[in-house]
Amino acid sequence: FAPKILQGLSLLLTAGPTREAIDPVRYISNHSSGKMGFALAKAAIEMGAKVTIVAGPVNIETPLNINRINVESTQEMLDAVMQQVHHSDIFIGCAAVCDYRVADIATDKIKKSAHEMALALVRNPDILASVAAHPQRPFTVGFAAETQDVAHYAKDKLKRKNLDMIAANDVSDPSQGFNSDTNALTVFWSHGQYELPATDKLTLARQLLTLIAQQMKTA
Ligand code: C5P
Repeated sequence: FAPKILQGLSLLLTAGPTREAIDPVRYISNHSSGKMGFALAKAAIEMGAKVTIVAGPVNIETPLNINRINVESTQEMLDAVMQQVHHSDIFIGCAAVCDYRVADIATDKIKKSAHEMALALVRNPDILASVAAHPQRPFTVGFAAETQDVAHYAKDKLKRKNLDMIAANDVSDPSQGFNSDTNALTVFWSHGQYELPATDKLTLARQLLTLIAQQMKTA
């Protein structure tokens, strides 16, 4: 049983990794599984929300009643999010977005010849910061995967990206984050913080959404 505390609200979220092409057969990406994002989508449906998930390439079935938009690159994820943002009440950036893309994607497969080669990369736009800067911004929540000084970096991101809330986890601990089925989060907002101890990602998703609903009421 889940109380319908998100009834009538629209949630938009990103999940999984993004993938940046190098040539027609190779890419740069990361180990994000998409599990936390899909757990949030499932929990939000239980709580009565309308849910759109913009997902990078992940091997997860779409939970019932969820609108799923599949993307690959960071730019595609940004475009999909920006098309949805104006009719969303809550945005959660759960994706592990590639911060850089390849400057010139080769049109043909790159052949091996030299012993060394360099790949020029350029910065990608920040999807979360772009949502937070939108004139009709939803309640905007970020994730911060850190390996050290978790609280310090998370609070810095909350301010710098102008977020309403940030959920931080220590990914140097293999039982947390990325491919793991469990996670623990410390959640920060401008005037408070809350510990969500290690548990399965669906339970954690319900707890995080409950905190979001509470903060939206007081905001
Ligand atoms: O700055 P950092 O990548 O650590 O911030 C993590 C948060 O920002 C996550 O919520 C992630 O989804 C989001 N992000 C984004 N677009 C980027 C980089 C990160 O939306 N280009």
